Amino acid sequence: MLVEKLQDAINEQINKELYSEYFYLSMAAWFEAMNLPGFANFFVVQAQEERFHVMKFWRYLNDRGGRVILKQIDQPKVDFSSAEEIFELAYKHEQFVTKSINELMDLAIEQSDHATRSMLNWFIDEQVEEEASMDGILQKLKLVDGRGHGMLMLDKELAARTFTPPTSN
Ligand code: FEO
Repeated sequence: MLVEKLQDAINEQINKELYSEYFYLSMAAWFEAMNLPGFANFFVVQAQEERFHVMKFWRYLNDRGGRVILKQIDQPKVDFSSAEEIFELAYKHEQFVTKSINELMDLAIEQSDHATRSMLNWFIDEQVEEEASMDGILQKLKLVDGRGHGMLMLDKELAARTFTPPTSN
């Protein structure tokens, strides 16, 4: 059984992951409207990853005798000025999520909850990839600097991304 403090914090994290899904779908919608389907695909797949994160916390909470409490999801930003702005925001958002996961880990350590620490290790590793993925594309966008040919090449590259759920969860 989880202590209430940890249960509440995991429910907060579920809300943040749902917001992440919503935020990335909003970015995908903007790219769709800009006729950049590869970039849109990248964020649709990212949104699927976020739903996977939600369900991982969801299953864990239930397995530990806790209860999932869904909260309101804020409306995400809908208007953006450029692809670069979007990736700046996505990178910043992932840094925010990393901080939140680290705080959850601090709480699990404080509570000597070894099962929660073990579950969170997966997220700690995942966040390294999440930040690197957003920053990697951001750096490419800076090189391309909004020029047509480079943008179309990147769009083609991002069209290839697919969602593959991790087998060990
Ligand atoms: Fe669920 Fe992108 O962190």
